[in-house]
Amino acid sequence: MQAIRYLSMLLFCMLPWTLVSADYLETRVRFTEQLPAEGDTLVILVPEGTQQVSLPDWPTETVMQTNRTLDAADFEAQVHQQVEILAPIGLPVDRLWVVGAGAPGELARHEAEEIGAALGARANGTRARVITVDTRLIADGDDNAAIAAAVAHGVDLRNYRFDRYKSQPDDRPSQVYRWTVLSMEDTQRRYDQLLALAEGVFLARELTNLTGSDGYPEAFANYVLEELGPLGVEVTILGPEQVLEAGMGSLYGVSVGSQHKAHMLIMQWKGSDDPPIALVGKGNTFDTGGYNLKTTSSSILTMQTDKAGGAAVAGAIKALAGQQVAINVVGVVPLSQNAISGEAILPGDVLTAGDGTTIEVGNTDAEGRLILADGLWFTRDRFEPRVMADIATLTGAKVTAVGTDYSAVFTHDDAVLETIKAAGDLTHELVWQLPLGPYQGIIDSRIADIINTGSPGAQAGAILLQHFAGDTPWVHIDMAGQALRTSARGIHPEGATGHGVRLLTEWVKLYAAEAPVDAEVTVEGE
Ligand code: BES
Ligand code: MN
Ligand code: ZN
Repeated sequence: MQAIRYLSMLLFCMLPWTLVSADYLETRVRFTEQLPAEGDTLVILVPEGTQQVSLPDWPTETVMQTNRTLDAADFEAQVHQQVEILAPIGLPVDRLWVVGAGAPGELARHEAEEIGAALGARANGTRARVITVDTRLIADGDDNAAIAAAVAHGVDLRNYRFDRYKSQPDDRPSQVYRWTVLSMEDTQRRYDQLLALAEGVFLARELTNLTGSDGYPEAFANYVLEELGPLGVEVTILGPEQVLEAGMGSLYGVSVGSQHKAHMLIMQWKGSDDPPIALVGKGNTFDTGGYNLKTTSSSILTMQTDKAGGAAVAGAIKALAGQQVAINVVGVVPLSQNAISGEAILPGDVLTAGDGTTIEVGNTDAEGRLILADGLWFTRDRFEPRVMADIATLTGAKVTAVGTDYSAVFTHDDAVLETIKAAGDLTHELVWQLPLGPYQGIIDSRIADIINTGSPGAQAGAILLQHFAGDTPWVHIDMAGQALRTSARGIHPEGATGHGVRLLTEWVKLYAAEAPVDAEVTVEGE
């Protein structure tokens, strides 16, 4: 008995260290239809044009002081305009903040989220602990619930902290927020949906933030299994042998030089019996460039974020499962570590992908398309999805073309393009279409079927992926440069952004609504 216990302890110590999943948020949220008397901070959201504020139970001195202050500050309640009154006369709070919420009925969801983010950031700079936010003046009916829920969601998105590697973490934001709203039930219902979305964003940020040495393929997959299993998501992990057995030499090849070999992570939320909508994300857990090494310290330093596309897919599946959507959705993440050693692939090598296509490795640093090629083929082969979206930190050329405020999207499918644009506008994870060509021959290889390099650079990646998407409706999303922020801004704390989770989650729902399965039967020649 003793021996067995000793043996199992020894085995346990020899296993790679497993990453314990974190509690991502300490902020607490309550909705009420009354203005609670307690709290140290009172926030009043007011619609654009408001110059005077007065609540029914306020003493005359409070009204006078507030309105003199608003007047002195030229307050007109534009979005983000804020006025602070410390120790307001006649109120039991330390701080009174009057915050502009824009024109009623015209406030976009992302603007409401940004108001919340700014509020959260401001509160974190003070001793505020119990914060009452009165939203009753901004709008009525559905608008009130929608705006209040989105503002509360914005506070949450900003308040995530990544402190796994701090020996002495700063205190995390841990305020209690009490929201005074017109309909408690309606607002709570909307907020719960957004909280599920935020949980997806937090998972993606956490995975992306993991260091190269901690977030290797197997660790990434196991972390996701632990987080998504309990939500009813079916999670399957293929190890290196299974990747090889399935013939996915393109995925396998990228990690063959690393001690951390390729894995494939598969997640399914079966919210309906329709054919699935599939999301495929680049999970390259570190990108050294391989033998075409990234040679400047700045180009290699943040390449643990090269798994952000895969993290976005895992986050979106978590959000959709948390929201209990009635949609069949599959997430697939090919996982690799692009590293060098005596076993690593060499520039000029030829890899054979799962579908039999041979790929010349023109550059080992163009590894994302190599792993996604098998990811897309596997997804099609295994699930016969009705549509696929892939998302990846794929090319520097994309950053040159459209910068980091947009993702580049490539598709030939109108319904997919329309819905991905709509999802981008809704979440403000904006997309811009780049052409797929025809670009005659840009990935033709002299010695193999195709090559993983070509010009223009972002298109060469997209066209290689298109080959593996086959005739399945498909969009490629290049999110290079959008995975990480070095300083906090808007809904993002510093560090990984979790970019893509909100875009993909809303896209899946929009696509399912806009392109119902029955409508997909098209007649040739129509
Ligand atoms: N992961 C990089 C792309 C990238 C670059 C993401 C900068 C975020 C910031 C990708 O694997 C890569 O190295 N792409 C090369 C491809 C080239 C060698 C054909 C690139 O874009 O330079
Ligand atoms: Mn690379
Ligand atoms: Zn890469």
